[in-house]
Amino acid sequence: MARDVPALTGEAVATVTGFSRRFGDRTVLDGVDVTIGRGEFVALLGRSGSGKSTLLRALAGLDPAPAGERDGIAVDGTVAVAFQEPRLLPWKRVRANVALGLRTPDPGAAADGALTEVGLIDRAGAWPLTLSGGEAQRASLARALVRRPDLLLLDEPFSALDALTRITMHRLVLDLWERHRPGILLVTHDVDEALLLADRVLVLDGGRIAHESRVGLDRPRHRDHPHLLDLRSTLLATLGVTPEGTA
Ligand SMILES: Nc1ncnc2c1ncn2[C@@H]1O[C@H](COP(=O)(O)OP(=O)(O)OP(=O)(O)O)[C@@H](O)[C@H]1O
Ligand SMILES: [Mg+2]
Repeated sequence: MARDVPALTGEAVATVTGFSRRFGDRTVLDGVDVTIGRGEFVALLGRSGSGKSTLLRALAGLDPAPAGERDGIAVDGTVAVAFQEPRLLPWKRVRANVALGLRTPDPGAAADGALTEVGLIDRAGAWPLTLSGGEAQRASLARALVRRPDLLLLDEPFSALDALTRITMHRLVLDLWERHRPGILLVTHDVDEALLLADRVLVLDGGRIAHESRVGLDRPRHRDHPHLLDLRSTLLATLGVTPEGTA
């Protein structure tokens, strides 16, 4: 993806420094500071409307911010994004969707490699509208992966999936992350998802990063691990949610 952001040196794949974004007279992001390490898995939580997608779009270079509001974002390397809805072009087959815009010598072969990695190679010749929700999300992940990103941005990619498919997708993302080690920024509403997957969990509130927790447990993790239970309570309280059973 073409980017007009300054390159970084060192161990960070992305830094956001004092980044602000306004829409009209509303300030959505108000001096956000975030660093994503090379190969680090970061989850971003926050209430609906808190500006998570706005931050992600800015990192992806997809935000047509007015001049003067693009300062403070620096990414070192290739960026790829997967969104909540898979956004596949319905008039192109799955393989062509994954290969779209690739400048490698053999885009079809690269697409097939990525489709194999996400377990979707048998649907490479299918039309997007014939895919299940989970399959479409795998295709979307393959399209991101085929770009070999240094930074993978995931905006609630699992939220529309049923619980079982979501668990399978969690395993897949962890597996792909361990194999390729991109830095990941995963936007999610799901505190458990953040705690099961990420090295570090951030909470966006009031236009800034209001809270940060380092998880520090090996994977695969169990959601009833005492440390995760503690972190979950803290995060839910930060998000203004009273956990069930504690009133
Ligand atoms: N292009 C835009 N023009 C005007 N307002 C916008 C624009 N993009 C986002 N906003 C506003 O900025 C705020 C933050 O939006 P954003 O999509 O970043 O929230 P979010 O944290 O991703 O929410 P959700 O969890 O519901 O996806 C919202 O109030 C939204 O209406
Ligand atoms: Mg959003």
